[in-house]
Amino acid sequence: MEVVHTIPELRAAVDRARQAGKAIGFVPTMGCLHEGHLSLIRRAREEAAFVVVSIFVNPTQFGPNEDFSKYPRTFAEDRVGCVAAGADLIFAPTTADFYPVGASTWVDVEGVSARLCGEFRPGHFRGVTTVVAMLFNAVQADVAVFGRKDLQQLAVIRRMVRDLHMPVRIIAHETVREPNGVAMSSRNRYLSAEQLMQATAIPAAMAAAKATAQAGITDAARLRDAAQAVLSAQPALKLQYCEIVDLETMVPVASTSGLRCAIAIACHLGATRLIDNADL
Ligand code: PAF
Repeated sequence: MEVVHTIPELRAAVDRARQAGKAIGFVPTMGCLHEGHLSLIRRAREEAAFVVVSIFVNPTQFGPNEDFSKYPRTFAEDRVGCVAAGADLIFAPTTADFYPVGASTWVDVEGVSARLCGEFRPGHFRGVTTVVAMLFNAVQADVAVFGRKDLQQLAVIRRMVRDLHMPVRIIAHETVREPNGVAMSSRNRYLSAEQLMQATAIPAAMAAAKATAQAGITDAARLRDAAQAVLSAQPALKLQYCEIVDLETMVPVASTSGLRCAIAIACHLGATRLIDNADL
């Protein structure tokens, strides 16, 4: 597996793979890889004969009071994980190289990015879509794989790709969970063992909403109430939002009747922000 840091090196390697008749798969990451990321890489491997993984902690998607500087940088371990999962190349640019001096171009997907995390993390999705557009331009992949755990990010990226006619197929891959049901996240390493237990209220809340939906309830307020009853029984969790949303628009709905919907939850556990979602 090759590791490159510059766009010319990346392009040369991707060109060689294309000339060898290989389709290009891409998994963008910020590093600190866990089993969830590795499953995205393995999925990309199933879809394409040459798999690029980017490792870049993107400063523009962090707010001023967020964890950019303390975000874990674990390149040596990430590299081992990428080899094991079947990646062919890691692209790990420096911030100075990747964002040209005086860069002033933004990709902003309105609407889909406005609610939920967009409300609580102003500017976050603008940073994500800008860097993902830059990465797509750099890699020129045929297919890119994103985790379902970041449900709104996935919807925002799908919309960007559609609106800007980007020639890349987006694949959503299922959330990988800890044995206790908590969604895997790079930020889980900030949690103590006790907090990891407390976080199980999140999948339990989603399961309560799902069971209510399976009992035939379509009223979003009742589905939300079922989840919130579980969340509020765990006082360590500070809820940011718990919404029943349309899967495509990410807009909260009044009823799930006739729609493809999910429950989306964000909360703080101590200083750590956790998000999760489930189809209803
Ligand atoms: O999901 C992430 O890790 C990041 O938002 C992404 C897509 C790599 C962009 O920096």
